[in-house]
Amino acid sequence: MQRPLIIALDIESQKKRQAFLDVFSGQSLYVKVGMELFYREGRPVIEELKEAGHQIFLDLKLHDIPNTVKRSMTALAQLGVDIVNVHAAGGQKMMEAAREGLEVGTKLGEIRPKLIAVTQLTSTDEAMMQNQLLINRALPEVVASYARLSKLSGLDGVVCSAQEVPLIHDACGEEFLTVTPGIRRESDSLGDQKRVVTPAQASELGSWGIVVGRSITSSATPLETYLEMKTDWEGTA
Ligand code: C5P
Repeated sequence: MQRPLIIALDIESQKKRQAFLDVFSGQSLYVKVGMELFYREGRPVIEELKEAGHQIFLDLKLHDIPNTVKRSMTALAQLGVDIVNVHAAGGQKMMEAAREGLEVGTKLGEIRPKLIAVTQLTSTDEAMMQNQLLINRALPEVVASYARLSKLSGLDGVVCSAQEVPLIHDACGEEFLTVTPGIRRESDSLGDQKRVVTPAQASELGSWGIVVGRSITSSATPLETYLEMKTDWEGTA
């Protein structure tokens, strides 16, 4: 798959998640499993999704000492997921260790999961970063610098807002992957997201993949909404 539309499976119960996925029966999806779902249901949920033919972005945002991250990544690679991530704030050695761990854990003949980094969380604004984290720079400068460090450490890309994609591409080249949440249709409510773009706008800005949660998971007609957003994303409307 080239440029995925990834559905964030932020659904609070197994029953509701199953009902949601049943609507897509026969479709092979790309889904994001976050901390809440993984901590609640663990490996079986990954096995279940894989058996159903879905690809998986396991969004656990690892951040620890290099040795721990390496061994954890080996365990995650053994799950056969497609994308995993770390916090770039863990530094170069930690990110290199993450990649090494994935290489160790990837079974012979299988593809290593893509490894991407979180630069700064979207919940972090410049004032918080400067006053609490004591990083006394402009936010875009920090995002670009962390993205460069991720690339230098052997990562495949970053999670970022679609508006940051041109900046990331300038810093790291067009091939560096950008996975962008904060996606809405014109008609959708924003929820807690502040800066959003449509799938077509994300595509124009150069996103490699988009992450869509509530627009699809809270839709009264999730399959139709998914197909509409996919068409908008892929530009075949
Ligand atoms: O429902 P919504 O489309 O806002 O969901 C977006 C998903 O992407 C959620 O799972 C959220 O945690 C995740 N995410 C985000 N912003 C980031 C990183 C991840 O919204 N910077």
